[in-house]
Amino acid sequence: MSLITGFESFVRPSEPLAMHTWFQLGGPAEFFAEPETVEQLTALVRRCHEEGVEMRLLGQGSNILVRDEGVPGMVIHLSAPVFCEISIEGRALTVGGGALLGRAVTTAVHRGLAGLESLIGIPGTVGGALHGNAGTRGGNIGQWTLEANVMSANGEISQRSGDELVFGYRQSNLDDLVILSACCHLEEDSPRELAQRMQRQWIVKKASQPMGHQSAGCVFKNPRGSSSGELIDRAGLKGTRIGGAVVSDLHANFIIAEADCTAQDVLRLIDLVRSQVRDRMGIELELELEIW
Ligand code: EPU
Repeated sequence: MSLITGFESFVRPSEPLAMHTWFQLGGPAEFFAEPETVEQLTALVRRCHEEGVEMRLLGQGSNILVRDEGVPGMVIHLSAPVFCEISIEGRALTVGGGALLGRAVTTAVHRGLAGLESLIGIPGTVGGALHGNAGTRGGNIGQWTLEANVMSANGEISQRSGDELVFGYRQSNLDDLVILSACCHLEEDSPRELAQRMQRQWIVKKASQPMGHQSAGCVFKNPRGSSSGELIDRAGLKGTRIGGAVVSDLHANFIIAEADCTAQDVLRLIDLVRSQVRDRMGIELELELEIW
């Protein structure tokens, strides 16, 4: 029996991952799964667990760089409607891990629920946002999240709440294989004021960060008390290029992939930026971008 026997309706071999990521770079996944139900997901995860097959969860691909050689094992994508539902009851927003963060934010704002509006413009899924505690200077998703429903790598589903949930700067203890859903408790506010706040946030983001390019989010986390973008800028690295990978002229903590760029170009540019900032400023930059 092959690994995917019985799962042929939702698992494909050799799926190119470039088209599933914002960088649009990198090789294929050995297997790519888009389960349509929680039962299908559970059965697949159990099979992979038994067979010792590596599993990865792909969100919207906005914070990952896939290596040119691709990735072994199973890449799971929660695109089916059941993983993307959003519902509101009182001040509680319950949202599927596969839902787009932007959709969760605008749904909350339209219903007059405050808290998430500073996250507008951050790409990715809610699962990805929770995994890395996505945020801005105005707040992060973790501070509003009181419960999460997760699936471990052996297919067990459990609920985490209270002090079982720990969020820090661009990190959380939600390192389970799958974040199925989460519940955020928000505050009531006027939808009009919230929409205005959201628009202001959007304008600032558009003016200060490259959008509409082949790129991901910030490449490096900010070192405590400073900004990686500012450090890279001060090191004179804006516009630095390796192959088709370029340090953005607008915000130095972004790398843009231009025509004919490879994942290897981006990796080499990351190494260059890191070593220059280390040599000139004595600061070791830590990656925010995940490398697959
Ligand atoms: N700056 C420069 N040159 C640059 C970029 C920035 O001098 O090329 C200066 C700015 O002028 C400003 C300071 O650095 O004085 C901070 O810049 P910014 O406000 O853009 O914030 P940041 O620290 O670079 C962080 C988050 C962003 C988030 C913004 C806004 C990280 C790594 N970055 O950026 O999040 O959108 O604040 O809240 O925490 C992300 O995490 O992927 C991300 C984009």
